[in-house]
Amino acid sequence: RLPAPFRVPLPVPPVLRPLRTAGGVDSYEVTQRAARVEILPGTRTTIWGYEGVFPGPTIVSRRGRRTVVRHHNALPVPTVVHLHGGRTPAEHDGYPTDTVAPGGSREYRYPVEQRAATLWYHDHRLDFTGPQVWRGLAGFHLVHDDEEDALPLPRGDRDVPLMVADRSFGADGALAYPALDPSLTGMPGVRAEFMSGVLGDCILVNGAPWPTMEVSAVRYRFRLLNASNARRYELALDPPPPDGRAFVQVGGDQGLLPAPIGHDTLRIAQAERFDVVVDFSRYSVGQRVTLVNRLGSGGTARVMRFVVARRGHDDSHVPERLAEYRPLGVSEAVRRREFTFRRGGPEHHGVTPWTVDGHLFDPDRMAAEPELGTVELWRLHAQNVPHPVHVHLAPFQVRNADRYSRGWKDTVDLSSGDAVEVLLRFDGYRGRYVFHCHNLEHEDMMMMANFRVR
Ligand code: C2O
Ligand code: CU
Repeated sequence: RLPAPFRVPLPVPPVLRPLRTAGGVDSYEVTQRAARVEILPGTRTTIWGYEGVFPGPTIVSRRGRRTVVRHHNALPVPTVVHLHGGRTPAEHDGYPTDTVAPGGSREYRYPVEQRAATLWYHDHRLDFTGPQVWRGLAGFHLVHDDEEDALPLPRGDRDVPLMVADRSFGADGALAYPALDPSLTGMPGVRAEFMSGVLGDCILVNGAPWPTMEVSAVRYRFRLLNASNARRYELALDPPPPDGRAFVQVGGDQGLLPAPIGHDTLRIAQAERFDVVVDFSRYSVGQRVTLVNRLGSGGTARVMRFVVARRGHDDSHVPERLAEYRPLGVSEAVRRREFTFRRGGPEHHGVTPWTVDGHLFDPDRMAAEPELGTVELWRLHAQNVPHPVHVHLAPFQVRNADRYSRGWKDTVDLSSGDAVEVLLRFDGYRGRYVFHCHNLEHEDMMMMANFRVR
């Protein structure tokens, strides 16, 4: 019932057009609604999508111009939108209980005082983020700025966002998610055997199963996002290019790196982004190049295919220096804190939850109260299994970063048994924010905590 791979052309999400653009503000409207769309060829699947599409339309912002998005909730459940990686005032950050009821609407205001970066927006409803994102509530939100524009990187239709997400389908083509209550209005959570996270057997890129993209024999920039609930990937090109590294990374979660990093494979955890340049001139015209997943098997070992269809003219290149970057020093940290991400804590809906320091998520409990304008050092531990940890508002640098976690980040993958130290900068806004595991089933099962910037 799943299609043969590499039959469907790669879709690129539509770019959302502003309703108004005046006085330094771009205003958008988005309706969250159910739609019947063709994901598996010849079958209709009901999704929940921003504007009824999955991925949602791409929002493109410019640093220094405010973006205002009015979201209408035409779904049968409460929703709340978080701009992942956004430097957003607390009341617009999509706090998990700050939901909009069915039939309601609200405006999210984004100052966009931040560097060019590949951000994304997705649902963040308390207890139900996993199933609501699974149904399709996720889209790209790109920020551009002058520093990025001045670089000779591939652009236009050679700058392509790729949202990688696994899903499972029932025999009728419906998205299959093991929710205890499929109406998502009562009891949260998933069936016991999915406590560790929900994996799909079909890999979608921009909402299409194992798609194919025709490329010219030139450089392309791909903005890779792992929007999967629980799956990690190690991406590689098959065959690898005859010379040089498969991928030249130019950006991470929070924008451009100081200098490019070559990778033969990319390890990408949930919610992480890698902006990479791939030079297809190293392949011959007619060649097929498969993006594979070294951590998968069978269908999940492949992701999509590129077919080098023609020669092309290319005046792009990847410069040695990409962006200003100042490494934070440990001596700048005014506080040290430690958090442990593990399974265990008071029983929650009859199961042992995932927790931060053994506490169930509680909107009133502050795990930290950093001071606005300061840098803190957080030591993050993972127990039992790996946890990709995401901190709202505050971008961070990973200490002793491996080659996958350089530059400014907002999500870092903790391997089990390991501790990672991050230096976070609490800038911009005061108020209450969350940090949590971005395995969405862990998050829904309580692996989330608050900090208040004071
Ligand atoms: Cu991508 Cu708190 O989320
Ligand atoms: Cu986790």
